[in-house]
Amino acid sequence: MTQSQLFWWHTGIVYQVYPRSFNDTNGDGIGDLPGVIEKLDYLQQLGIDAIWLSPFFPSPMKDFGYDVADYCDVHPMFGDLATFDKLIAEAHQRHIKIIIDWVPNHTSTEHPWFIESRSSRDNPKRDWYIWRDAKPDGSLPNNWGSIFGGQAWTFDETSGQYYFHQFDPAQPDLNWRNPNVKAAMLDTLRFWLRRGVDGFRMDVVYMIWKHPDMPDQPLAPDAIPRNENDIFSTQQQLYAYDYEGVHEIMREIRATLAEFGEDKIAIGEVWLPLEKRLQYLGNNDELHMPFNFDLIGDWDWRYVKPFNAAKIRQLVDAYDAALPDFATPNYVIGSHDIPRIASRLGSEARARVAAMLLLTLRGIPTIYNGEEIGMVNGVIPPDKVQDPQGIRLGAIHTRDQCRTPMQWDNSTYAGFSTVEPWLPVNQDFPQRNVATQQMQPDSMWALYHQLIQIRRNHAALTLGTYQSLASPEDTFVYMREYNQEKFLVLLNFSDEARTITLPHGGTILISTSLNRTGEVDDEIMLHGNEGILIKLG
Ligand code: NOJ
Repeated sequence: MTQSQLFWWHTGIVYQVYPRSFNDTNGDGIGDLPGVIEKLDYLQQLGIDAIWLSPFFPSPMKDFGYDVADYCDVHPMFGDLATFDKLIAEAHQRHIKIIIDWVPNHTSTEHPWFIESRSSRDNPKRDWYIWRDAKPDGSLPNNWGSIFGGQAWTFDETSGQYYFHQFDPAQPDLNWRNPNVKAAMLDTLRFWLRRGVDGFRMDVVYMIWKHPDMPDQPLAPDAIPRNENDIFSTQQQLYAYDYEGVHEIMREIRATLAEFGEDKIAIGEVWLPLEKRLQYLGNNDELHMPFNFDLIGDWDWRYVKPFNAAKIRQLVDAYDAALPDFATPNYVIGSHDIPRIASRLGSEARARVAAMLLLTLRGIPTIYNGEEIGMVNGVIPPDKVQDPQGIRLGAIHTRDQCRTPMQWDNSTYAGFSTVEPWLPVNQDFPQRNVATQQMQPDSMWALYHQLIQIRRNHAALTLGTYQSLASPEDTFVYMREYNQEKFLVLLNFSDEARTITLPHGGTILISTSLNRTGEVDDEIMLHGNEGILIKLG
């Protein structure tokens, strides 16, 4: 790769802001865009390069903004277009990029397109969504299940047909096979590109292209439903997404971004196995970055992976080897859809090892807001569950638990708001908050901050090669190297100490417990759940 082809994402760090839960400045218990602006100095200090903002568009909030009623505006609860423009300008002043969420697979039932579409069978927008008659025997058009539970079809009394929704009934799927839908949706990208956004995170973008005839899905042998309402998990998903023809659309999406320059990034939410996922890179003419969720496992929490050194090494090795040279790798350990990493792993010490892993691998790391202080899952009483997945599949599946308000300080409501927030603040906020942790030299925040600074200062940790090395059981050791500079990352995933032999001596730059530095010879003992970064030579 030549220097002129180097874009910000080759060395950058993405930070996901879930706006509802980040910072409330207008006292309604819900975060807003002025709240993000207020925290830009904080994010600059943390050292990130880009913010990915989850949806802030007009929406009835049935899926908290992933049900969009207008792609080209800001929900008044978050601000307005002028606030958004200010956010871009202020972020850019601080050299922070703004990536916004684009939700191409479905709109809200309150989107004017759907209101028109459902108004009658001969409305010009009827075909903008996926409408089908019942089968001749009166049963549903096909057997497909919704990811949020139940059937993927809802009957519309007025027009006497069913519409398809891969998610909630309030989120009807768009019919991307209609050229007018495609044109209108690509125009929504242009709308934000003209306002200066630096790219998009594209929600379930691999789902926009389905089998045109939508045949019944075969049953998945041995599948276990998440609860009695879960049909989706009991079927083999052959036809609902990643269907033949999808890559042509990806190329059109990429070309639309390229109209505004080669540096506008397309990040795609693509929950597919490695080989299929990498196809979304195309020949460097589709997505720049299909999200790599290998360190998480699956969107279905039951299959979220425990951290296992051998397994992670295998996943990273396979990913690194399979990526074409033009592609930038990326890694994710948390999001607004998945239980918090600290809760998944069961201790802060392990979450610290995960942080070192995330920030020392090749390519773009994505940090979900709150991970930098080790936030844990919130406890949501069943009657307070708001997430549609939790409502339809049971409180145990509610994503509310990873969406609780950001913990800024130890004042009432953790400094997030002056009134009771939309989701309860975690009980641990008096100790676990940004202000407190910024004062503690060995806090999780200090670890994130230092790791980010080290990463920024050494090209070996961004652009360098990756090579895993043989190491004792439960450990994962790899080398990062660039222009003579060599770093060794040693991660111990077990509760027990492990001794590791080094190729040669070096200097400890940082340990996950932030209490070790100095020179090492050719052997080092790692404590249980400890990670160490060594500069060799
Ligand atoms: C993936 C998003 O991350 C999730 O929050 C949302 O519910 C679904 N897509 C549907 O838009």
